Amino acid sequence: MAEILHFECARCGEKIPASGPQNLCPKCQGPLYVRYDIKRIAKTFRRESLAGREATMWRYREVLPDAEPVTLGEGMTPMLPSRRYPNAYIKDEGLNPTGSFKARGMSAALTMVRHYGIKKVAVPSAGNAAGALAAYAARAGVKAFIFMPKDVPIANRMECEAYGANVTLVDGLISDCGRIVAERKEREGWFDVSTLKEPFRIEGKKTMGYEIAEQFKWSLPDAVIYPTGGGVGLIGMWKAFDEMEEMGWISAKRPKMSSVQSSGCAPIVKAFEEGKPASEMWSDAETLASGLRVPKALGDFIVLDAVRKSGGAAVAVSDHEIMQCFSDWARDEGVFAAPEGAASLAAYRKLLASGFLKESDKVVLFNTGTGMKYIEAVSEYLKVPLPAGKKELPKSRNIGGIIQPS
Ligand SMILES: Cc1ncc(COP(=O)(O)O)c(C=O)c1O
Ligand SMILES: [Zn+2]
Repeated sequence: MAEILHFECARCGEKIPASGPQNLCPKCQGPLYVRYDIKRIAKTFRRESLAGREATMWRYREVLPDAEPVTLGEGMTPMLPSRRYPNAYIKDEGLNPTGSFKARGMSAALTMVRHYGIKKVAVPSAGNAAGALAAYAARAGVKAFIFMPKDVPIANRMECEAYGANVTLVDGLISDCGRIVAERKEREGWFDVSTLKEPFRIEGKKTMGYEIAEQFKWSLPDAVIYPTGGGVGLIGMWKAFDEMEEMGWISAKRPKMSSVQSSGCAPIVKAFEEGKPASEMWSDAETLASGLRVPKALGDFIVLDAVRKSGGAAVAVSDHEIMQCFSDWARDEGVFAAPEGAASLAAYRKLLASGFLKESDKVVLFNTGTGMKYIEAVSEYLKVPLPAGKKELPKSRNIGGIIQPS
């Protein structure tokens, strides 16, 4: 396992000791990277070292923090060749514990929470991050405090309750939940594990980059399509590619990192099209792909930089296109995707139609979660009514995403 050199601010480059927990850069409030001595690690950690290791993200333990993992078997998810498109692959993150790729980030985050001796963690979330946090907190023996808008999808709320998290339903938006966490965390002794305010979630998610490389025998695909809310997965994979290049595992060639958002909330796409280095707050964000409902991401500037440097694209797709692709993936491929994941297929089709991608290009489409948690949206789309007597299920306002530091 890797000894951490320090945290490094993604914005101003400030280096901060990693002897204790840290949220944002104390100088500029930017998100933090975890840094190791990669050159030294490369002396003993080889691609061949992975042979025969466990099929979890902890197979890459040499580039993950030096602490006893809090694990539920996350990672090493299938890379499914598409039946319909000869060179497209579906990276199915719905098979992770708690049904989404959030498991990776929370496994790494709670590993360090336990390592640092923190007893209470808090997060404002209306979606998959909340469920993953609740599960990994239970696994770590740590108390989770989750603040959710009162009309979240029922599955997300139920799993948090089941895992024994302390759930507070807030009569407001995700931003109100975030404000409560920010106001109370000091007094209550909570460690804030919000998206990009906690540096190890990137470390967990970077393992998706390692897996793509390993699953393709160390030759990266031509493009990766990633449903972007806070952008942690894309940021993590981008970091992984740099680390692997530094270790001599891959060449300098990068996949075209392409970001898909919902047209109801597409701040990254807008900034990309306008040639801006960062996004502006998206007002009246609305999409049933709740994980993409992030009006302003803390790490937007990193995502935009990676998309541009890699020659990628940023595409907005409508909720209608998303649900059509949800249905197509289920019928054509046997994949019951989260709407966020189905957005990858919608973007792929658009990028093929525009000529940006060719059918001969090798492309990874990320299905970031299972559709099982979106039963209200699925029932509405498929016109399959929920069972009698369940009519009182709260209709989700589909609020999700992250909030700005306050
Ligand atoms: C299923 C799903 N996909 C994608 C996202 C967006 O993830 P990221 O913050 O890495 O952009 C989320 C976030 O909630 C999600 O739950
Ligand atoms: Zn900084």
